[in-house]
Amino acid sequence: MTTVLTSQKSETVVTNSLKNTTSSLDSLSPNQQLLPLTAIVNSNDHLEIGGCDVVDLVSQYGSPLYILDEVSLRTACQQYRDAFSKHYQGQSQVLYASKAWSCLAVCAIVGSEGLGIDVVSAGEILTALRAGVSPSLIYFHGNNKSADELSYSLEFGCTIVVDNWNELQTLDLLAKEQSIAMSLAPRIMLRLTPGIECHTHEYIQTGHIDSKFGFDPNEIEAVFAFVAKSSLNCIGIHAHIGSQIFELQPHQDIGGVMVQWFKLAIEKYGLKFSELNIGGGLGIRYVESDDPPSIEDWVQTVSAGVTDAFIASGLPLPKLLCEPGRSLVGATCVTAYTIGGSKTVPDIRTYITVDGGMSDNPRPITYQSKYRAVVANHMSASLSQTVTIAGKHCESGDILIKDIQLPETNVGDILVVFGTGAYNYSMASNYNRLPKPAAVVVGTGDSSLIIKRETREDLLRQDCLPERLYQSTKV
Ligand code: LLP
Repeated sequence: MTTVLTSQKSETVVTNSLKNTTSSLDSLSPNQQLLPLTAIVNSNDHLEIGGCDVVDLVSQYGSPLYILDEVSLRTACQQYRDAFSKHYQGQSQVLYASKAWSCLAVCAIVGSEGLGIDVVSAGEILTALRAGVSPSLIYFHGNNKSADELSYSLEFGCTIVVDNWNELQTLDLLAKEQSIAMSLAPRIMLRLTPGIECHTHEYIQTGHIDSKFGFDPNEIEAVFAFVAKSSLNCIGIHAHIGSQIFELQPHQDIGGVMVQWFKLAIEKYGLKFSELNIGGGLGIRYVESDDPPSIEDWVQTVSAGVTDAFIASGLPLPKLLCEPGRSLVGATCVTAYTIGGSKTVPDIRTYITVDGGMSDNPRPITYQSKYRAVVANHMSASLSQTVTIAGKHCESGDILIKDIQLPETNVGDILVVFGTGAYNYSMASNYNRLPKPAAVVVGTGDSSLIIKRETREDLLRQDCLPERLYQSTKV
């Protein structure tokens, strides 16, 4: 048997002798693919992405290595944008939820595709700004923004998505203090908990009532009354119901839930609402059994839900914002590892160890997430063993993939794990003092470094050793 990775929603058939797709790349929804759109098997029987041989990339840049396919990322951005133009009659703006992967190159690519950026810290604001994104397209989220972060955001004129009372009051004070320096009142939106539940991992559900995020709908009138008297320019409301969602119904329902609050704000409190942000959450296909809707189907569904709800309530269509993270960047990247040793526990399992693990991909240990992988230097080799891919950390739970079918492997083979673009680099750590991997962007046969590999010296950059402690080691 050989590895057969099929993509149900397209004609792409990726086998261990990975056939290139016959359909045109831009008709495939990247979030429904296991591999980046440009993945093929080349004449050396190696995996190739963006015209670059993955084995050569590892020789050049080392491993572990994040490999980002520019075509896949641009295609995902364009599909979101085009789907809104096709299915929504009002204005729209797609924001990239940069918590999925905040770095200069990713922000620059999505920015150049006309997307704005959703940020959750001053660090993510700085990254988006340095990547050249206009502050008018930066929306600042978070459930505990510090006064310092709020001032920083106000300085550039980003829109702040206010999460709670404390923040609202702090912001109003800051706005009053800074009003001389600022020509315009701060633009804010209000995040509400819509009470919509969806089927995803408990840690990544956010829209149900028992959530740390957003204002409770029961206090919404008091919030609107406060905002109406404040120095803030409140332009609308926001909700985000969760992540890695495959059902369309919860996103279809958002319009109907939000419109009632939109109407109340305008008609009872005289607020000048014009924007509705329905968050992100569309899932991706990590393993064959995952079956997310396409980007276009998702956009069509939310557009129809919002349009129907606003028409029924007699309000003009709002500017519709959404903020996908995972479905933009998740399937555009793979991680290449070098295989080290193996260990067979008779009648139980064989462990194959790679040179990374929970520090570059904490999702399996955190959410029991499943991943798919291939041996990139023997793509057509027969699948002959069921193995467990273990990371190199001192932790028994550091398992990247349990019970995967692979060909025979040798020390030095290159294992490539798919779907690592979202919440991998951004959640990476230096556990066990492992340096964070490098990342490259590939396209049309070229590769460029977008994140340098950390060095051992980098690991000590923030350490301080008071002299008396150093002396004491010499006693
Ligand atoms: N907007 C808000 C307010 C969010 O909290 C999130 C994700 C998004 C947008 C983007 O959601 P997406 O389109 O990526 O589903 N670390 C977890 C995911 C946490 C999601 C946090 N919020 C994971 O690795 O699965």
